[in-house]
Amino acid sequence: MKIVHTIAEIREFVRQARLAGCTVGLVPTMGYLHEGHLELMRRARERCGIVVASVFVNPTQFGPNEDLARYPRDLERDARLAAEVGVDVIFNPPVEEMYPPGYCTYVDVERITENMCGASRPGHFRGVATVVTKLFNIVRPDAAFFGQKDAQQALVIRRMAADLNMDLEIVTVPTVREPDGLAMSSRNVYLDPEQRRAALVLAGSLDRAVEAVRAGERDVLQIRRLVEELIRAEPLARIDYVEIYSYPGLEPVERLQGQALLALAVKFGQTRLIDNVILEG
Ligand code: PAF
Repeated sequence: MKIVHTIAEIREFVRQARLAGCTVGLVPTMGYLHEGHLELMRRARERCGIVVASVFVNPTQFGPNEDLARYPRDLERDARLAAEVGVDVIFNPPVEEMYPPGYCTYVDVERITENMCGASRPGHFRGVATVVTKLFNIVRPDAAFFGQKDAQQALVIRRMAADLNMDLEIVTVPTVREPDGLAMSSRNVYLDPEQRRAALVLAGSLDRAVEAVRAGERDVLQIRRLVEELIRAEPLARIDYVEIYSYPGLEPVERLQGQALLALAVKFGQTRLIDNVILEG
């Protein structure tokens, strides 16, 4: 497996692969890979002739008081894990390669970025949409792979690709969880043992919501209250949001009809975790 750091090098690698008749899969990541990322890479491996994984901690999607500086990084470990699942090349550009001096162009997806993480992390999706557009333009993949754990992000990217006539398939892959249910995230390493135990309330409360819907509950307010009460009963958890919207449209809903996204963001100390489930109304 190769590691390249410049746009010229990754373009040349992809050009050669295309000349050899290969399709190209892209797995964009910020590194510090976990089983969730590796699952995206395996899916890309199954479907595409070559697999490109980007490892880039994108500064434009972090707010001024967020964890950009302390975001975990370990390229050597990432390279070993990516090679094991059959990635052909890692694109790991320095910040100046992606945002050279004078850089001033951004991609804004409207409306579906106004709630949930878009509301609690102003500018976040502008940074995500911008870097993902740049990666698409650099690599020109046939398919790109994103995790359902970041459900709103996956919808934003799908919308952006459709609206801007980007010629590729967006593939969303189900959330990968630890054996006890915690959704895999690079940020889980920030949790101390007590917070790690407390964080189980996320998957636990989502499961309870699914059970309530199976038992016939359709009132969105009641489902939100149930989840909020369960999370508030955990002293180490601080709710950022618990929200339910139609899926995939992300419109407000009062009663469940068809699919809805129940998504939450909760802080444990300084660590903000997200999780979600699709409710079948
Ligand atoms: O999901 C992530 O890790 C990031 O938001 C992404 C898509 C790699 C863009 O920086």
